[in-house]
This record gives sequence, C-alpha cells and structure tokens, in this order.
Amino acid sequence: MDEGLSNTPQGVGRGQHVPVLLKEAIDFLAIRRGGTYIDCTVGLGGHSFEIAKRLGAPGHLIGVDKDPAALEIAQKLLAVESQGAGLNDDWPKVELIHGSFAEIANDQRPGTIDGFLADLGVSSLQFDSAARGFSFQADGPLDMRLNTMSGRTAEQVVNHLDERELADVIYEFGEERRSRRIARAIVRSRPIHTTAQLADVISAAARPMKKRPFTDQAGPRRGAGFERIHPATRTFQALRIFVNRELDDLRALVHRAPQILVPGGRLVIISFHSLEDRIVKDALREGTKQGLYRVLTKKPVTPGEDEIDRNPRSRSAKLRAAERI
Ligand SMILES: C[S@@+](CC[C@H](N)C(=O)[O-])C[C@H]1O[C@@H](n2cnc3c(N)ncnc32)[C@H](O)[C@@H]1O
Repeated sequence: MDEGLSNTPQGVGRGQHVPVLLKEAIDFLAIRRGGTYIDCTVGLGGHSFEIAKRLGAPGHLIGVDKDPAALEIAQKLLAVESQGAGLNDDWPKVELIHGSFAEIANDQRPGTIDGFLADLGVSSLQFDSAARGFSFQADGPLDMRLNTMSGRTAEQVVNHLDERELADVIYEFGEERRSRRIARAIVRSRPIHTTAQLADVISAAARPMKKRPFTDQAGPRRGAGFERIHPATRTFQALRIFVNRELDDLRALVHRAPQILVPGGRLVIISFHSLEDRIVKDALREGTKQGLYRVLTKKPVTPGEDEIDRNPRSRSAKLRAAERI
C-alpha cells in the first residue's frame, strides 16, 4: 500500500470489504485541504477515511449512502480510525446523509463541490449477508434493497410483474439473452420467496452460460476466458439494478455533476459492469464536447493482478475520472 494511505489494516472492522482502487481514486481526486467533497457511496467508509484525512480540520466531507446500516458502521469506523491515527485535532466536518446520491447531488448549490467519488454497487458486507438477498450463494429472503427503509423488494418484483415486464427487466439490466425463457419459468413457479428458490427455478430453465467473461461483482475473473457462470448471475444482477433504480441514479448524478463542481473540481467514478461504465463514459464524452471536462482517464483504470489477488471483488472495477474546466 502506498505510503500516503492509511496504515489501518484494511478489512479490520469491515468484514471482507476492502476498498477498491483506493490509491487510484485518491490520486485522481487530488484532494485540496479545506475543500468540500462528496463520497457518494460511503459504504464502510474506506474511501471516506482517506478523503477526510487529507481534508483536515478546515474541510467538509459529505458522505452519502442509501443503506442506513452501512452509514452506522461507517460512522463508528471513521471515529475509531481517526482517533487511532491521532487525527482528532485535524479532522474535517463529516456529515453522513442517508439517501440517494442522485438526490444529494441535486441538493448542492452550483459550483460548491471540489470533488466527488462514487464507488458503485454493493459492498461485500451487503453482498455476503444472506438476509439482504443479493446473492444466490446463500439462502435468504429476496430483498435486494440497498435502502432497507423503503421501496419494492425483489420478492415483490418477481411475484407481481407480468411475464413480459419481467423478461424486459432481465434482458435490459442483466443483458441476459435467455430472458424470455427465464421469465416464463419464474411466472410458472410463483410464489417465489427466497434467493435459493429463485436460483433453482432459473437453473432448471437455463443451463450455465459458457461464453464471454461476465463483469459483475460476483462474476468470474476478468480475462479468464470462457468460464461458466451460474445461470442465475445475470438475473440477480438485473433484479438488483431494477429494485434500486441504480442506472437512473447514476444518470442523475452524472447529469448534475458539472453544475455542482467548482472549476478544477474532480469527478471519480468506479463502476462494476458494462451498463454503468457506458453511462459514465458517455457522460464524460458529452461533457468534454461541451467544454465542461478534461478527461483524466483515456481508458478506464482497472486493478492490477496484485489487487485482484488480494481482493477478488475488485476484478471487474473500472475507474474513470475527469476535471471540471
Ligand atoms: C461498493 S460500496 C462502497 C464502499 C466504500 N467505498 C468503502 O470504501 O467502504 C457501495 C455503497 O454505495 C451504496 N449505494 C449504491 N447506490 C447508491 C445510491 N444511488 N445512493 C447512495 N448510496 C448508494 C451502497 O449501499 C453501498 O454501501
């Protein structure tokens, strides 16, 4: 780990969650002491800690997450880690806000933000918790909401959408070619209440996919060639994106970004699948055409083999960064 980064052992207090592309994200943010930054996806606070450390007492960190449980953990970890690092006297104002980054970005006054980071998707803590219903690796209720306090669960979606709508969701957000077959099998097997039940229904309807390496947080290693993925992988991704309106939120964030950033302000976004990356890439290209951005990453930055070995969750990460002109 880079010398400038925290000596706090990564992973302590964060379960299996290790911040992805930490050094790269911090380098691209080029944090100004005393500035105002938004961590759009606080999660367990790994990136937030490194941002706060560099802001110092005159700075302001706005940390956002849809998941109230994540914010609670992040608050405790940030307090313990700042104290452990002897930074209490030089710690910024840290404001943790429960909500969607789309709304919070919208609430900021124009030209007031020095930079923001969005590290999209779910944390390992969320993904690995059977009770949250994100993964078919462990049986749990079909929830999948990042915001556990509101919104439709995956169970409601799976049991109430008509077959055509369900197939469209699976196709659009999972890029699953067998969406119609899977939707038909789901509708015939209703009611479905658990992740294991859903995974079984999909497995019976569709064989494991061989083809192109899939790039999801739960997918196979990038560049590993023709690996089999579990037949439910794409459908689970699709339901999660749909339940949490993930792409709508991301579009709203990149739309608002150039308005709230100060000249010279930085935008850093880490995405985990092609649907997200396309939105970021297109927004940066469009912003560049309009003279709003200088793109800092001609190609997306991806983790090296070392990071992937240490943290397999990072394998599909792509970081893009730009500076507001
Ligand atoms: C990959 S984790 C972030 C991990 C964090 N960077 C860290 O170092 O611990 C993504 C987090 O973003 C949150 N999230 C995802 N979409 C969001 C949105 N639209 N608004 C706010 N939070 C969101 C999730 O609840 C999750 O906690």
